[in-house]
Amino acid sequence: EDALSGCRWSKHILTYERIGSTMDRSRELAHKGAPEGTLVVAAEQTEGRGRLSRAWVSPVGSLSLSLLLHPSSEQLPYLTMLAGLAAAEAIEAAAPLKADLKWPNDILIGGRKVAGILVESGTARGKTYAAIGIGVNVNMDMAGWPDLAGIATSLSAESGRKIDTPRLLRAIVDEIAAFYTSFDPAALRDLWRARLVTLGRRVTASGGGTVVEGVAAEVTADGALVILGDDGAEYVVVAGDVTLKP
Ligand code: BTN
Repeated sequence: EDALSGCRWSKHILTYERIGSTMDRSRELAHKGAPEGTLVVAAEQTEGRGRLSRAWVSPVGSLSLSLLLHPSSEQLPYLTMLAGLAAAEAIEAAAPLKADLKWPNDILIGGRKVAGILVESGTARGKTYAAIGIGVNVNMDMAGWPDLAGIATSLSAESGRKIDTPRLLRAIVDEIAAFYTSFDPAALRDLWRARLVTLGRRVTASGGGTVVEGVAAEVTADGALVILGDDGAEYVVVAGDVTLKP
């Protein structure tokens, strides 16, 4: 908590050794009228969740957080982009590593996933709220997770050193606060786009029961992925899952 002193959102922090999911706690807090910037942090989650109803492994050594915001209707669609960019920048500030983004917002190091973003929004007390959820594999010994070998990695595994988790947490929250308070969607999108490893690659995209194969050509102004399909058609993918082909 000391690591957060002086940052804009430092006044409302709830830390847990263990929790089901920080997303659930954040939603409850929204319904109780918690202010913008309320931060829920957990050292371990027993029911962490990811995008597309997947489970998210969050053992000791990982960092799990949810940041509660009351975004405008203009800000809301940009929150996943904003969070992915903020987390990538914070990771690079905390460790001598290069953090890439895989559309829409997986954070990769050397092609393997090190962090994920989940944004959930709703209405509470007549106001729109959003919880930005971020999970980072910080000091995780990946040997304990053979199922994830080749797919996921951790900051300590990649850098060969122990990472200062409170410092990383502070950097993430500071980066989000900076992009959120001086909100500039075009600048945000350009910075986010520059980190995407997806563009120019052959991809398989699936979502809503359809599968598209082709080349990831561009992202639209609001972050949707444009795929030039092998069938010659152009597809705009707003949500879904994308696999990069070698
Ligand atoms: C993904 O890549 O699918 C997104 C993973 C998001 C995980 C974070 S950890 C903190 C917050 N609490 C959760 O249960 N999920 C998010």
